[in-house]
Amino acid sequence: MAARLIDGKARAAALRAAVAERVAAFPGRKPGLAVVLVGEDPASSVYVRSKNRACAEAGMRGFEHRLPDTVAQADLLALVDRLNADPEVDGILVQLPLPKHIDANKVITRIDPDKDVDGFHPVNAGRLATGLPGFVPCTPFGCLMLIRDVRERLAGLEAVVVGRSNIVGKPMAQLLIAESCTVTVAHSRTRDLGLHLARADVVVAAVGVPKLIRGDQLKAGATVIDVGINRTDVGLVGDVDFDSALPVAGAITPVPGGVGPMTIACLLRNTLVSAGRREG
Ligand code: GUN
Repeated sequence: MAARLIDGKARAAALRAAVAERVAAFPGRKPGLAVVLVGEDPASSVYVRSKNRACAEAGMRGFEHRLPDTVAQADLLALVDRLNADPEVDGILVQLPLPKHIDANKVITRIDPDKDVDGFHPVNAGRLATGLPGFVPCTPFGCLMLIRDVRERLAGLEAVVVGRSNIVGKPMAQLLIAESCTVTVAHSRTRDLGLHLARADVVVAAVGVPKLIRGDQLKAGATVIDVGINRTDVGLVGDVDFDSALPVAGAITPVPGGVGPMTIACLLRNTLVSAGRREG
């Protein structure tokens, strides 16, 4: 039997509508998100434009800051300081990657953790790891929502996260641990990926290797979440070989239209939560 297709587009639209409804009822000022883009990377430009459009559609204020790729690190840090101090700004996002002459860790750690709606600040990573309230990175948070939609009980399930980035793999593992899954994190140095995949009830693939995971490696009925967005000659493909995985998995996200739309929806949600905390 073919897997159930997980419709991230529809799920994201529902979340965005719910956020918009709460924004409309928000007392006083509108929640605001500042997005900072350094340079002209075409993919980053597209992301930033869609983040701003999504803000407007949710009734939030979007503050877009575009800086040349020659900007001095000190000037970028000064902008972050101004945004930290601005009462109209509830969330700050500095689009990554940054040019080589800028130390991304310095910039991320300069953002006020309570405005860090990306959840990249070490304080928020620590809060997530220790079960304290904070901001969870948007992509893994969106993945968890999709998993929860198709699995009634997560406790005790075997979960394999493929990829160990700070943005997806590590926070994803923390979220699944918090759901009482038994979590394995596989990565480029894992000796036998198939060994781990064969017993995984939940697979989250976030390595950036086109079609790395094949259907014959999956456990029948597995929930498969594909975070990969790989631009190839044949268009966008995920980290999972969708065609071979479809007849084996119990539920699977397509690429595109799976995880991707959830990231922006979760960003709006985090911004709304930030505004609520700051007003409350
Ligand atoms: N670059 C790619 N994805 C992201 C993201 O979620 N946040 C930021 N700030 N930069 C990114």
